[in-house]
Order: sequence, then C-alpha cells, then structure tokens
Amino acid sequence: MSEDRYLTFALCKGRLADKTLELFSQIGLECREMNDKSSRKLIFVNEEQKLRFFLSKGPDVPTYVEYGAADIGIVGRDTILEENRNVYEVLDLGFGKCRMCVCGPESALELLKHRKRIRVASKYPNIAREYFHNKKHQTVDIIKLNGSVELGPLVELSDVIVDIVETGSTLRENGLMVLEEVCPLSARMIVNPVSMQMKADRIKELVSKIRSCLKA
Ligand code: PRP
Repeated sequence: MSEDRYLTFALCKGRLADKTLELFSQIGLECREMNDKSSRKLIFVNEEQKLRFFLSKGPDVPTYVEYGAADIGIVGRDTILEENRNVYEVLDLGFGKCRMCVCGPESALELLKHRKRIRVASKYPNIAREYFHNKKHQTVDIIKLNGSVELGPLVELSDVIVDIVETGSTLRENGLMVLEEVCPLSARMIVNPVSMQMKADRIKELVSKIRSCLKA
C-alpha cells in the first residue's frame, strides 16, 4: 500500500485524466502541479491535502492499484475487464461513455449468424475471448493488435474486430459497422483491497463527495 499519510491516485494519461481532474477540482481536490502540461514530472503531490497523483498508461493503472502502489485508480471499464486484476470497482464516474462492440463489414453478419470460425482482431484479446468463447460459444481465432484495429478487416487480416465505439465515425469513415454490442463502458474508480480497509474513512468520504457531485 502507498505511504500511509497520503492517498495515492493512478490516473491514465489523456482525456480521462483531464476529466478526472476536473471532477476532483469540483469537490475541492486540487493538484496545481498537474496543470503544467509541458512538465515531464511523473508524480504530483498536494502536501496540504496529503494527496499524490501519477499518470500512467491505461492498462498499467489496475496493476498499480492491485499491488497497492496506488490506493485508487481511475480507468475505463474496458481496461478493468481486459486486465482482470484483484481490485474493487467502487464507482461509475459516468464520463468516458462508449461501447465495446464487434464491428466489421456488413458481409460479416452472416459469419456471425452461422457461428463460423472467424478471425477477430482486437486490442482487447481477453474481452474478445470471454465474449466469443464463454458467452456466444463460438470458436474464433483472436489476433492481438495494438491500435488502429479498424485496419484488420480492411486489409483482410481479420473478419471482424472487437473494439471501442464512441461516436462511430472511425467505423463510418472506413466502411465498417457495429455488428454486435459486447458491453457498455465508462470511467470507473477502482480501489486496492487493503487500502479499502486501512484508509476506509478517507475513501468513503471521497466516494460520497463524488457521488453527490455527480448527482448535482
Ligand atoms: C479508439 C477506438 C476506435 C476509436 C473509436 O481508438 O479504438 O478506433 O477510438 O472512436 P469513434 O467511434 O469516436 O470513432 P483510439 O483513438 O484510442 O486509437 P487507437 O486506434 O490507436 O487505439
């Protein structure tokens, strides 16, 4: 667990961190050091409020939280499902809303309907496996990619993809469509199980402040 006096947050770089800091500032948690976008600093401290923040790659956030290097992480549900770490998911923050979907060309609808052995490209092989093997009982070959997953069907690497759809414009611009929905996604707060006990009061207070702020 992170140093006792502090509450340590792992945030994932990018839009989600910006949204999170906006929310935190509404409930009076500030970290002015983080507003300097040109800084290469990795850890930011608010000494008065005994808060520490660090930014990491999304998939590493649940890792930091599981090992207690951070008490709390803010990360997309996609990453939580994919990483499957031993952490508590305590709050849906309501932003970063999107969907995990099976996407591809219209012609792939038939392959899905008849449960053909298809190739599925994804940045999320565990989510894809869980969906096809355990939920649909369809045998598929999963190919892990690291980004621009929509290329998969375009260059005939795969029949379909399992990927995040937000506005749908990446699909539209590439002649692809949503074929099936896997699950809805949004930003979540996760907590280290030991911190949940040892820092229960601070964490409960934080969760309840965020809840009221989200309701308002
Ligand atoms: C994500 C996702 C889709 C796109 C969906 O990619 O993987 O490609 O956004 O958004 P849209 O429905 O609004 O078009 P990201 O921009 O994170 O980059 P990546 O493709 O390199 O993963």
